[in-house]
Amino acid sequence: MNIAQKPPLRKAVRAVKSPARSEVDIATTKPGTPGGIFMRQFWICVSRGEDLPAGRAKPARIMSENYTLYRGAAGRVHCIDSKCPHRHALMHLGWVEDDSIRCVYHGWKFAAGGQCVEQPAEEAGFARKVRIGSYPCGEYLGMIWVYFGPGAPPQFPPFPHRATPGIIQTFNVEKVPCNYLQSFENSMDEVHVAFTHAPGGSHANLSRDLPIITAQEEPWGLLRFGTRKTGKVRRSLHYAPNVTRVIVPPLTGMDGVGGWPEIYFSFTPVDDENHLWFVTSHVEIEEPQMEAYRKQRAKYDQAMAAAKPTAELADELMAGLHDYAGVRHPDLAIVQDIAVQAGQGRLADRQNERLGRSDAGLIAWRKILTRELKRIAEGKTPKKWTAPPADVTPTLGF
Ligand code: FES
Ligand SMILES: [Fe+2]
Repeated sequence: MNIAQKPPLRKAVRAVKSPARSEVDIATTKPGTPGGIFMRQFWICVSRGEDLPAGRAKPARIMSENYTLYRGAAGRVHCIDSKCPHRHALMHLGWVEDDSIRCVYHGWKFAAGGQCVEQPAEEAGFARKVRIGSYPCGEYLGMIWVYFGPGAPPQFPPFPHRATPGIIQTFNVEKVPCNYLQSFENSMDEVHVAFTHAPGGSHANLSRDLPIITAQEEPWGLLRFGTRKTGKVRRSLHYAPNVTRVIVPPLTGMDGVGGWPEIYFSFTPVDDENHLWFVTSHVEIEEPQMEAYRKQRAKYDQAMAAAKPTAELADELMAGLHDYAGVRHPDLAIVQDIAVQAGQGRLADRQNERLGRSDAGLIAWRKILTRELKRIAEGKTPKKWTAPPADVTPTLGF
């Protein structure tokens, strides 16, 4: 462990104060707002790769704006504006032709990159004057990433992943009925694990005692520590602006093979009151155990297919239809998290909380966000975020 990866002294926790309230709206990501400008500096996870087959287009609403995603015949992913510049038909209704897309209304065709290249009923020469908005795309860890900001995008992929052999697996995408920041903050709040996830026992190993939470800003985001009574330290990474990389217990039924996976959570705003929760994992598994692992994963997939949708069960919990402690589900931890996070309201009331020392992780992030958004609002130069190094990795910590 290098010096930068050691938890800061406890004194540093006390020094972390909640930012002054009401200075700037840290939850909004609408275009043109400081929060929206901040988020658009980064690659944003918008879909699982497997949810966009070759030759298909689909709509996507991200940070209160509408887009079309499509995958060309050879597998390349593209992101363009949702509506045709001619008379605003929805582009995802159209046809994918190699790496181009043709509008369903009057047949205008747009090449990869957005240039209009055909207008069947128009005069020659008009097409070259027309473009549709187009955004850089990439695929990484089973997910599709788009850069919505101005100028050239930052490095891709935006962060490293576990270097050991293994497989990448994605999980169900959840649409969570609240602002994205509530989920990102929850991922910095390790103390909740011992309570929220007590029913079902999936996180029992992380709940033997309560960690002391400390956090420090890094050139790429926030490095957070949970120090146990034993002195062992659990280290988790929060990549700016909305990705958490952490080692977690296997899903229910997946224990016994593959060990604890590294999980990457992406909390992507749909608008200010909804977000997508993407989960992808790197499981350390090699050929001899692969068969056993695949069998267990198939059982999990079957159980998920037969179970009530996660968000629906979380809704029912929030409505008081079930006893929280008695609920069981193949993705119980996700159900529990959604009930707690969305139960705070579509937009958490951060003006009226009573934060304590265990909130040091989310307080640290709010402070960074507030500082950056204020800089943007005042026209000052914001922080130049850098790509995270490969040698700063999460640890299990017990
Ligand atoms: S609206 Fe798309 S071609 Fe007319
Ligand atoms: Fe949780």
